[in-house]
Amino acid sequence: MIWRATLETERLYLRPLAAVDLPDLVREIGRWDVARFLIRVPHPYDPADARRWLAQCEAMERDRRQYHRVAVPRGGGPLLGAAGLMLDAHGPGEAELGYWLAQPVWRRGYGAEMVQAICDSGFRDLGLRAIAAAVDPANDASNALARTLGFRLERVEPAHDMGLRGPPAPAHIWRLDRAGWEKTI
Ligand SMILES: CC(C)(COP(=O)(O)OP(=O)(O)OC[C@H]1O[C@@H](n2cnc3c(N)ncnc32)[C@H](O)[C@@H]1OP(=O)(O)O)[C@@H](O)C(=O)NCCC(=O)NCCS
Repeated sequence: MIWRATLETERLYLRPLAAVDLPDLVREIGRWDVARFLIRVPHPYDPADARRWLAQCEAMERDRRQYHRVAVPRGGGPLLGAAGLMLDAHGPGEAELGYWLAQPVWRRGYGAEMVQAICDSGFRDLGLRAIAAAVDPANDASNALARTLGFRLERVEPAHDMGLRGPPAPAHIWRLDRAGWEKTI
């Protein structure tokens, strides 16, 4: 059953967040260079934030509102990142994508590998119609990752909700629909 399943990629296992991950989560998402582009992540980030997030993930997964996985190396080791889909965020079958990767392992293809796996599973296992991601125009890594995975730059939103990061600001809205995804597989 996909809701508790572990996804596998060449180098990663993608499984639900667990209590054992919380110290790694606090350390890695606590870095400003990671958090600055994550509009719902408090900064600084402390163990209570991590415990709240775990409870939220469990509740949202139970209610089928979010499909979220953390990435760990197949050979064992610390948490490397996470990717999630907020289901029906843009209408029925249209999900919002979010992701982050631990800074020590940036630029080794892990981000693309992790995000590809959750998107593939979203289309294949959850039957999604489309996935969208809002990316800061200054976030070169995330814009490049979206392009690499076949997302199309749909529009530039002039005043996107920046959540905890401040007043509304421009965002690139990337979108991958089912037909586009099918061309990538
Ligand atoms: C975005 C993020 C997940 C990318 O992870 P990563 O593992 O370093 O990315 P990858 O190595 O898989 O690279 C994916 C693509 O992006 C490119 N890329 C990665 N970092 C880049 C950078 N700083 N500048 C330009 N391109 C970059 C890679 O070259 C690759 O493109 P290619 O397939 O054409 O070679 C990571 O930088 C991160 O966690 N950033 C902070 C959190 C964040 O921004 N989350 C997204 C919010 S919208």
